[in-house]
Amino acid sequence: MDKTTPSTPNDLEAFWIPFTPNRHFKAHPRILATAQGMYYEDQTGRRILDGIAGLWCVNAGHSPRPIAEAIARQAHELDFAPCFQFAHPKAFELASRVVSLAPKGLDYCFFVNSGSEAAETSLKIARAYFSSIGEGSRYRLIGRERAYHGVNFGGISVGGIGNNRKAFGPTVPGTDDHLPLPYNHARDAFTEGEYGFDDSYADALERMVALHGAETIAAVIVEPMTGSGGVFPTRRGYLQRLRQICDKYEILLIFDEVITAFGRLGHGFAAERYGVVPDMICFAKGITNGTVPLGGVVVSEKIYQAFEQKADHGIDIFHGHTYSGHPMAMAAGLAALDHYRDASLFERGREMEPVLAKAVHALERDPHVHDIRNVGMAAAIELRPEKGAPGKRGYEAMIRCFEEENLVVRLSGDTLVLSPALIASADEIGRMADAIHAVLLRLPE
Ligand SMILES: Cc1ncc(COP(=O)(O)O)c(C=O)c1O
Repeated sequence: MDKTTPSTPNDLEAFWIPFTPNRHFKAHPRILATAQGMYYEDQTGRRILDGIAGLWCVNAGHSPRPIAEAIARQAHELDFAPCFQFAHPKAFELASRVVSLAPKGLDYCFFVNSGSEAAETSLKIARAYFSSIGEGSRYRLIGRERAYHGVNFGGISVGGIGNNRKAFGPTVPGTDDHLPLPYNHARDAFTEGEYGFDDSYADALERMVALHGAETIAAVIVEPMTGSGGVFPTRRGYLQRLRQICDKYEILLIFDEVITAFGRLGHGFAAERYGVVPDMICFAKGITNGTVPLGGVVVSEKIYQAFEQKADHGIDIFHGHTYSGHPMAMAAGLAALDHYRDASLFERGREMEPVLAKAVHALERDPHVHDIRNVGMAAAIELRPEKGAPGKRGYEAMIRCFEEENLVVRLSGDTLVLSPALIASADEIGRMADAIHAVLLRLPE
């Protein structure tokens, strides 16, 4: 191949597409060329309804003007400034804005570039915190089944999705314990919203303490709603109970809110929805409305102060990225938070939650449906897998949604996921459910 030829939309070979069957994709490409509001257009001008807010990130819909303009202005004003030993005004401004949305007591914000880096950073901070207070024996990091904390080694180790771990060799030492997913299909299937009380799921942490000793456990990390693992709402009282047990044994509690922050569950952070204050919160995605890569971790005063050095030249934490606090990301984050506030989007998320719930639960009796789950502006339609071919039925349904119904849905195994932008109208949500209904009726047995 002539490598000087500029790549055209027809030259699909070089791009190794993540989390995608490349050979099949390149034979049947799904290319999204432009986007506005709730819709993409492909290269032929076909309008495609976005059922998943980009990838759980475009919470205000695609391309709101104020965010695009803020990024353009920033590119002219300050393209880059290092945030190692130096900094720039907007990094301080955005950190203050993020902590003002976080629960009281979480007053410091560390910036990274993605959700994976946010999760990784929180795990490293947990271990380094105990090391700095003279309790270096606390190294264990406890995750949960079906959890997704990104793709770095720490994240896949505390993560609970087998396929994301299997090919990559040994996981990080001290991450072998996973809490059970607080879900029981026989009892919980087709519940609307959060599940009922059952302390036994959180109490599993007590068993891990009994087995290993609290003096070896640094932190527990959970998503307030299991997201990429297939949308599993939490149980009533579950996060409170985890908080109690962590307090009892002085274990740090980390919420991974990469999906649930910035309105997905109707609040700035899901911690507010559930009235539980963790020690750290990971965020990413919606912070810039998906426009510029940005993630971060907010941490408590207790954690931040533990890193302060006595010597003026002593570095607090040997961690960070070239692009931590990147000016373009800071400008996008400030503009996104202004836009969410000015458009009352978190409130709108709360208003639309019952509309999405009603639309998806109407699919209960459709062919192949095994469970339907919803919480906030997120919903899952779990299909029964084809015998001997897990994932095949879901994959076919996702492709048919795109090709036959002009709808983008997300796939997790055989589960179809909807997570519309918070601007979605009742009509658009109805169209998403209708499209899935039509596809389920057409799927082969
Ligand atoms: C809870 C959670 N943590 C971490 C991540 C990883 O984020 P990223 O893909 O930006 O690395 C995701 C991505 O979906 C996520 O849902």
